[in-house]
Formats: sequence, structure tokens, C-alpha cells
Amino acid sequence: MPEFLTLSEIVKKAREKLDQGAWDYLRGGADTESAVRRNREAVESWVFKPRVLNDVSSVDATTEFLGVPLRIPVVMPPIGSVQIFEEGGGASVARAAKEFGILQILSSVCWPDFETLAKEVPGPRIYQLYLVSDEAWMDDIIERCMEAGYTGFCLTADTQTYSRRERDIMKRWIPLSGRVTGGGDFSPQAKMTWDTVAHIKEKFDIPLVIKGVGVAEDARLCVEAGVDVVYVSNHGGRQLDHTRGCIDALPEVTEAVAGRVPVLVDGGFMRGADVVKAMCLGATAVGMGRFEALAMAAGGESALLKALEILEHEIKTTMALAGIDSIAGLTPDLVERQYPLRPAHVLSAFPLIEEGY
Ligand SMILES: Cc1cc2nc3c(=O)[nH]c(=O)nc-3n(C[C@H](O)[C@H](O)[C@H](O)COP(=O)(O)O)c2cc1C
Repeated sequence: MPEFLTLSEIVKKAREKLDQGAWDYLRGGADTESAVRRNREAVESWVFKPRVLNDVSSVDATTEFLGVPLRIPVVMPPIGSVQIFEEGGGASVARAAKEFGILQILSSVCWPDFETLAKEVPGPRIYQLYLVSDEAWMDDIIERCMEAGYTGFCLTADTQTYSRRERDIMKRWIPLSGRVTGGGDFSPQAKMTWDTVAHIKEKFDIPLVIKGVGVAEDARLCVEAGVDVVYVSNHGGRQLDHTRGCIDALPEVTEAVAGRVPVLVDGGFMRGADVVKAMCLGATAVGMGRFEALAMAAGGESALLKALEILEHEIKTTMALAGIDSIAGLTPDLVERQYPLRPAHVLSAFPLIEEGY
């Protein structure tokens, strides 16, 4: 009997395997965690308006992002300290992503480091950096990142300072990444401006991703500044609390970007249907952070691979039942916003676990 046939089983296994500190780091957010709940509530609030009598005997969920073919419109976002969840860390994610056929965005605060990983698991990949030193330091990293063959370079803009994550603070629990960087000196992050973007665009020929965009105006400024990918994110509700659910920011951002550059989105996406909703609202691909971390905790590379296979099945099933056979056919008229059914929370995509299955 295969170990996992549903994503719920993978989440359940992750909970069994993690100690309380790692579990809370994974699921937790900033302050009151309202942004964590809003991400999920917003995703659950979009519902389908399906079409019938279209031939969906063959559903194609493949797409392309920055010239890289994606088997499903999903990327694995940066997860700091991912080695807490499984010892292979970023390398296990890289192997699963490569074998399945999607793109990984590697965090600068996880193991192995980006150059070691590029040698261990060659292939298309984006590198995400937190600025913890000056511009010369950043330039050196970007150069090395290009030499190591990275597909793109990502700056996370929503981490001007490290937020207050009370689950961790109240246990005096510090993530490994914080221990590595001496408690996390994010002060250079607070100094990042549009000049930083202009500097990178002027000096380097590597696609630049800005992660953490939340409003149309910043998306427009990104495009005008030559940013190559606009990444809508509130860091999974782990940075500024009391933000909108990210899927609710997507329509205004895709309208502002108007197809000029790809748009990534993350925040609360846990299931195949969630991914399809974001694609209807104009995303190029969807990041799934806690999905990635949960699968890693459940069983590393093999569990993540299995989770992606189940996710693909969910995506294709949803598309067929919505009457659409290709990613290009997913359009805004297929969804509308409805009142939420119940208060959402970080794992409310898995109601059967709550019921005790
Ligand atoms: C445990 C954990 C660690 C994270 N570490 C990083 C990081 O190092 N860099 C970053 O840009 N975002 C980081 N994020 C945010 C994710 O990249 C992503 O934006 C977020 O998880 C999306 O929300 P979701 O978890 O609801 O899918 C982290 C998220 C989690 C859950």
C-alpha cells in the first residue's frame, strides 16, 4: 500500500514527525497571525463558475516561466532553515523539483549554500537573497550566482525588519537561519530602495524577481524599473500582519502589469484547486511555501515528489471539472468571490484531519 495517496496524509505525517518548535516555526506567522488566516480565507472565498460540454479528455497543465518548462504552474518558494524539516534541506527540494519538473527558488538562509547546491543538483533555479551586508557584498553574490548558472535572482522586499513571531518568541526558539546570521541582522534590508533595483538592472544581466509586492502601484513601479518578475506575496503572513489575502491582491496587480512581465503569487495555496484559482486571476505560476515545508517534514525528497504528483492530479481534475483543458483557457470569468464558509486557518485546506481521519 503506498504511504501517501492524499495531501492530508502528508500533512498528518509532517505533524507526527516535527517537534513543537519546528512545527510552530512552519505554521506560524507574525503578531496575531491574522495575515496567515486571511491568506487562506481569501483563497477559500474564490469559487468556480464551471463550464460544461467542452472536450476535456486530455488536460494539459504545463506552462513556462522565464524560459523554463513547468510540468504544473507551481514554483517552490524560498524556505529558510528548510533543513530543520529534513536534513537534506535545499538539496532535497532541488532534487524533487528537478525530477518532477518545476522550479525551485532557493533561500539564502538555508543549507546547502547556493554554489554547493548548483554543483550537487545542476539545473534551472532562482536564488533569493536577504541583504545582510552592503551593496558590494550583494554585487559579489549576484556575480557568483550568475557564474553558478542561476536562472534568476530574487530580492525579498517585504522583510525590511524581522517580524515578531510570538509562537517562536514565547518558546525562546530561534530558527537555525537566525542562529547562523547571529540573530538575523536585517538592517541592510531596511535600506533597500528602488535605487537598489536600478543598480542591479544597470549592472547585471540576470532576470530580477521582486518578492513581496502587495499593491498595483508597486507592481507598476517594478515594471517601469525593468524588474523581470513581479512576485505578489505577504511572506505567508510571517512579516506584516493585518494584510490582505494575497489572492485578493492578484487582480489589481495583474491588471497593472498587463502581461508585460510574469506574475508569481503565494500565500495560502495548499491544493490543486487553489492553484487553478490563481491561474484564473492571471498568475503565471503559484508559490506553495508551507506545502513544500510540510512535504519535506513528512519524508524529504520522496514525499515532496509524491505531494507534487498528487497536486498535479488535483490541478488536472479541477481543470477538467471546470471544463478547461489548458492553462491558457483559465480566465477570470471562471471564478467569483463568495462569502467564506467558516473561519479559515493555516491548515483549513485539510478539513478531514480536523475530523480525526
Ligand atoms: C518556514 C518558512 C520559511 C521561509 N523562509 C523564507 C525565506 O528564507 N525567504 C523568503 O523570501 N521567504 C521565506 N518564506 C516565505 C515563503 O517563501 C512564501 O512566501 C510563503 O511561505 C508563502 O505562503 P504559504 O506558506 O502560505 O504558501 C518562508 C516561509 C516559511 C513557511
